[in-house]
Amino acid sequence: MHALTYHGSYDVRVDTVPDPILQEPDDVVLKITATAICGSDLHLYRGKMPELKDGDILGHEFMGVVVDAGSEVTVLQKGDRVVVPFVIACGECFFCEKQLFSACETTNPDRGAIMNKKNVRSGAALFGYTHLYGGVPGGQAEYVRVPKANVGPIKVPQTLADEQVLFLSDILPTGYQAVLNAGIGPGSSVAIFGAGPVGLMAAACARMLGAEKIFMIDHHPYRLEFARETYGIFPINFDEVDPAEVIIDNTSFRGVDAAIDAIGFEAKGSALETVMTNLKLEGSSGVALRQCIAAVRRGGTVSVPGVYAGFIHGFLFGDAFEKGLIFKMGQTHVQRFLPELLDHIESGKLHPDAIISHRMPLAQAAAAYKIFDKKEDDCRKVVLTP
Ligand SMILES: NC(=O)c1ccc[n+]([C@@H]2O[C@H](COP(=O)([O-])OP(=O)(O)OC[C@H]3O[C@@H](n4cnc5c(N)ncnc54)[C@H](O)[C@@H]3O)[C@@H](O)[C@H]2O)c1
Ligand SMILES: [Zn+2]
Ligand SMILES: [Zn+2]
Repeated sequence: MHALTYHGSYDVRVDTVPDPILQEPDDVVLKITATAICGSDLHLYRGKMPELKDGDILGHEFMGVVVDAGSEVTVLQKGDRVVVPFVIACGECFFCEKQLFSACETTNPDRGAIMNKKNVRSGAALFGYTHLYGGVPGGQAEYVRVPKANVGPIKVPQTLADEQVLFLSDILPTGYQAVLNAGIGPGSSVAIFGAGPVGLMAAACARMLGAEKIFMIDHHPYRLEFARETYGIFPINFDEVDPAEVIIDNTSFRGVDAAIDAIGFEAKGSALETVMTNLKLEGSSGVALRQCIAAVRRGGTVSVPGVYAGFIHGFLFGDAFEKGLIFKMGQTHVQRFLPELLDHIESGKLHPDAIISHRMPLAQAAAAYKIFDKKEDDCRKVVLTP
């Protein structure tokens, strides 16, 4: 089959690789009908995550049709059309019982990205996301093996097109978890840092939950403009102004109820941190988190769906303490949110497909990575079809 494979920083290729086969009795094999490129894939593409090997198949946002099912698969059968969560969870361990699926302690034999040397158990394996997360081949491919098939994949009705449901695999539940973690409800004010796909899904979910004022921060005018038209956000370009200052000035000098960091460790802004990160003296850019802490009101919440790894030295913990802030973060517990989000798509409350800007064949996946990474051609989100 054909699959998008990793060969080094900025070097991904569509190669011919062996077809996946069932390995465990609760596996299925899926023929992929649609797959997408995530902002998280860009961290891999840019060579910012360790433990990738030459030839690894990337991709963790995908859906398709079951073409083979193991003997212990009870909830799916051949021919079923499903969307698959990027998190692989067993459904039975200490954490899965608590619906903390991304903390599943049985699917990843490695330790994840945790740096503390204590003998802590690992979190869940992820599709196509390095050998830190289990080295499971991803879904930017014609076929994929799906482990723990009784727990993750959700069947989707034929009345909904692939594009309407594809983002259930990752960015929609990620935006949703981010606004739930942020405590958004009717009348809330929120600042969403990053107008990429995750920020846009957070804006859509915040609107659905009744948020009154949504500030959105980025420096790509086309992304901010799309978010303003689609979700009625108040756009702030961080190249032009200090976002936290604008937010404070527009919230009776208190700040927003919640701030969402939908950027993560590659946030642009601090030249010093960029240098320190390149020298590996610093794990992440802390600029987005500092902006979040500065923009949120006393007693408010900072919700972090953006990915972080390792140390941040420039973390204003004193301000967070002084303001009495709540922090919530982490990989999305995708499985937990799928039934309700599918309902919201069916009832027309959510239209995640609105953000798609590029539709390309899988054969052009390498070009698609470049377009998404460089924000060429006003790219918001790419969907690939095998
Ligand atoms: N928690 C999870 O389970 C989960 C799931 C999916 C994605 N993610 C993470 O979410 C983050 C966003 O993903 P995406 O697909 O939207 O990526 P993206 O790269 O397309 O979007 C990030 C946006 O942030 C903007 N940005 C950069 N620096 C900024 C700054 N200082 N202030 C404001 N905006 C800034 C960029 O211009 C870009 O538009 C990534 O870190 C990704 O890894 C996490
Ligand atoms: Zn992702
Ligand atoms: Zn588990």
